[in-house]
Amino acid sequence: MFRSSLKYCTLLLTLFAAYAQIPGPAQPIPFSHKLHAEAKLTCSTCHSDPQKFGDSIEIPDAPKCLECHAWSQNPTPTRATLLSYVEKKQAIPWVRVFSLRDFVFFDHRYHLMNGAECEGCHGPISTEDVVADQLNTTKMTFCQPCHVKTRALTGCTTCHNQR
Ligand code: HEC
Ligand code: HEC
Ligand code: HEC
Ligand code: HEC
Ligand code: HEC
Repeated sequence: MFRSSLKYCTLLLTLFAAYAQIPGPAQPIPFSHKLHAEAKLTCSTCHSDPQKFGDSIEIPDAPKCLECHAWSQNPTPTRATLLSYVEKKQAIPWVRVFSLRDFVFFDHRYHLMNGAECEGCHGPISTEDVVADQLNTTKMTFCQPCHVKTRALTGCTTCHNQR
């Protein structure tokens, strides 16, 4: 009796977790941040920090992936898929998750220089099999409270200036 109700609770919790998890978009290759974090890879292995204002953080392409996947002991279909992108000279068409509309100005560098952390803005990426916008990062209501708290500029033109 106790065990079955325990099982029932676990089932409910699992269902709740699945329901609470905001789904991310399907990607052309089922890339998992969780799996790569478990293999102890850091964010900067694949995402370069921007060197100057206006640079974006790159999303890696097939040649970067093949630095490791060309050599794996037990090749999976992933290697062939990656090689086919290289042969076709085609970039992997990753579906963007965090994308600001063009009237919003944002630069990673201001934030990284001020000590902001990747997962503070993007949510628990290293535990996600599929990247999703868990924190509503691209909404004004996400940006503004932190600008108030950190005494950054809060005037409308801070983020809506034409630059
Ligand atoms: C092994 C390479 C690799 C590592 C390590 C990695 N990423 Fe990624 N990242 C990717 C790829 C590939 C994508 C695009 C596919 C996707 O969204 O899952 C991506 C997408 C993202 C995105 C979504 C960008 C967008 O707007 O679509 C964010 C945010 C991100 N990564 C943050 C991180 C953070 C934070 C870490 C460290 C905890 C990290 N990544 C570690 C390869 C990597
Ligand atoms: C620094 C090394 C490294 C890089 C770079 C890297 N991976 Fe991986 N990848 C791993 C390791 C380690 C594993 C887990 C062990 C395994 O299954 O081979 C893994 C597992 C995977 C898996 C699941 C297993 C499989 O082979 O299907 C996929 C899919 C995958 N990676 C895709 C990618 C893609 C796409 C990129 C480029 C955006 C990438 N990886 C970049 C090291 C890397
Ligand atoms: C202050 C919040 C914040 C922090 C901190 C932050 N990001 Fe972002 N990130 C964003 C926003 C907002 C976007 C969407 C930018 C756009 O569409 O112009 C984004 C976009 C991205 C993208 C998509 C490519 C791009 O440049 O638009 C990647 C990849 C990414 N972030 C990874 C990271 C990594 C890795 C870190 C830590 C080194 C990090 N982010 C730290 C807010 C943040
Ligand atoms: C973690 C807290 C935090 C979050 C979240 C955050 N910011 Fe910031 N932002 C800062 C800090 C701190 C600065 C630097 C202030 C300074 O240099 O005086 C800054 C600076 C900026 C600047 C440069 C302002 C200037 O000096 O010209 C812009 C633009 C900006 N943020 C836009 C955004 C947008 C858009 C978002 C939401 C997608 C966002 N920020 C989210 C803390 C944050
Ligand atoms: C810290 C950055 C930041 C500041 C400061 C800021 N905004 Fe925004 N604003 C955003 C972001 C991010 C969005 C995008 C929201 C979205 O796509 O839903 C946005 C969207 C908007 C929109 C469009 C809303 C919609 O749903 O179409 C308007 C209008 C707007 N802002 C006006 C203002 C005004 C007026 C001020 C000054 C009182 C201001 N913003 C200050 C970041 C900011």
